[in-house]
Amino acid sequence: MVKKVHPKLEEPVEAENWTEGIEQPLALMEQIDEDFAAIAELANHSVISARQFSREQLIQLCRLSAKFETQQSFGQFPLTGKILISAFYEPSTRTRLSFESVWHRLGGDIISITDPSTTGIAKGESLKDVAEMMNHYGDVVVLRDSNERAIYEMLEALRIPIINAGNGTDEHPTQALADMYAIFKWRPELMSNEVSDDKKITIGIIGNPGRMRTVRSLLLFLSRISQAIKEVVIICNTTESFSQDQREELEAEGLNIRVSRELEPELPDIDVVYINAIAWVGNTYEEHGIEYKLSKSSPLKKGAIILHPLARGEELSTDLDDTEHNWYFAQARGAVFARMALMSSLVRF
Ligand code: CP
Repeated sequence: MVKKVHPKLEEPVEAENWTEGIEQPLALMEQIDEDFAAIAELANHSVISARQFSREQLIQLCRLSAKFETQQSFGQFPLTGKILISAFYEPSTRTRLSFESVWHRLGGDIISITDPSTTGIAKGESLKDVAEMMNHYGDVVVLRDSNERAIYEMLEALRIPIINAGNGTDEHPTQALADMYAIFKWRPELMSNEVSDDKKITIGIIGNPGRMRTVRSLLLFLSRISQAIKEVVIICNTTESFSQDQREELEAEGLNIRVSRELEPELPDIDVVYINAIAWVGNTYEEHGIEYKLSKSSPLKKGAIILHPLARGEELSTDLDDTEHNWYFAQARGAVFARMALMSSLVRF
């Protein structure tokens, strides 16, 4: 008798269905007219902060993301012959793999550094000198570094675009772009200039805006669609949850913000629940609000969606994975199309 190795090996692997959920990106595309003039301005620019993007650019990038998601042959191989320098000095599953996947899907080639101690940095070489070399070896740099100033130091010497893939506790703008793409697929009407009161949404963010780069960048993007948001409720257990001037900047853009220390009483009124409990700092991580947990038994509003930048911990129970609230996997999957849209807009030669 042949011994069985594993039950999963008995069945062929199902090929991934790239058109899964296709109606959602199509609805997004129908909501707004195509006008790529706004994103044409991004060509050959670096991306450090979500603050750099106008509402029009954000919306058109999400529209272009939907185009990549729904039309597999769209814009095939525009990056043929172009080289991405992938520099990830901090752990990453999604950001690194999705950026590299995007570059391959768009036809380009990749060279990478995963440990700065294998470069001249170990011999005291300055980041400016490293950046000067990168000008000659690649066409775009994607950098994740726990030193939030590193990207600014490199920017001084770079003559090719650099993309911030997470700089310490500061920002993670392309994650926030993927978050916005998920939100617009869920409710395309939020992109409209005028959103009626009954269509406005309440967003609950379980996390620390002053310490979490994903939250900081997401809030900046949300401030671009403040006309569509009833309220942003920050659920946080610390007294100082914002960094200096952060809340003032967001409120000046029209975002209505409230801070709460309670999760369960807020949940029945929240349309988008964004949860994250980890901030990477230096060579380790901080946990924030680990007492706030979501599970199938949480009093979630009917139709509410949950977003999480991942990696998850105990704050997000796996028993939510097969519920209507799970949009976090779609959010991670959509990051490929969002980064395709961004990369193909930045790299024009
Ligand atoms: N969302 C995110 O940044 O995940 P990684 O740390 O796995 O890249």
